[in-house]
Amino acid sequence: MQIKENRFLTSSPDITKCPPPDKPEYAFIGRSNVGKSSLINMLVRKKKLAKISSTPGKTQLINHFIINENWYLVDLPGYGYAKVSKTKRQAWGKLINDYILNRKNLMSLFLLIDSRLPPQKNDLSFIDFLGSSSIPFIILFTKTDKIKPKQVDLNLNNYKEHLKQTWEVVPTFIASSVVNKTGRKEILDFISETNKLWKK
Ligand code: GTP
Ligand code: MG
Repeated sequence: MQIKENRFLTSSPDITKCPPPDKPEYAFIGRSNVGKSSLINMLVRKKKLAKISSTPGKTQLINHFIINENWYLVDLPGYGYAKVSKTKRQAWGKLINDYILNRKNLMSLFLLIDSRLPPQKNDLSFIDFLGSSSIPFIILFTKTDKIKPKQVDLNLNNYKEHLKQTWEVVPTFIASSVVNKTGRKEILDFISETNKLWKK
């Protein structure tokens, strides 16, 4: 699939303010700083469509981008950022839960996981939540340029083995790096195939 047009649409403080659910939608979610906004920029080949920062907690709203006038990409705030207050973390939980559980046109989530780390508690419990809520998702294994390819494979297999303990079918993984521009085609192919399942 080619991306011919892409533009920022809206930032919404909650699901009631989001654009009408009239097109297939894909949302990026994961820990703060894992690379959600960067990956959106890589997909559309723009440096600054989504705002990036080396300080965690940059994205705080539900940001909609419209692609080819035909489907939505959504940049969400990250979870697990230790430096925010408990009140803010709870607000995040409510915002995300509402969005994930109620957004009618959400075709799939992209859950981003840092390829360098062993399985982290908050990612695993988020995966369990998605599973028990029957929310479709695939996992993007990010920042693979920061470690050796062999280590990426080891970490990937380790993650899959870990999930096998609770999952009958292990979720799909795509390895990505915005530095090496890897994973782009796989992600766009997935979206293109999934768009075919869209029914109004
Ligand atoms: P929040 O909005 O705070 O939740 O963060 P985010 O998940 O949107 O992360 P963001 O895209 O802002 O990236 C965080 C930092 O990681 C930035 O300094 C990026 O340049 C860097 N980064 C993102 N992806 C990659 C990657 O594939 N490789 C490398 N080396 N750095 C990356
Ligand atoms: Mg962000």
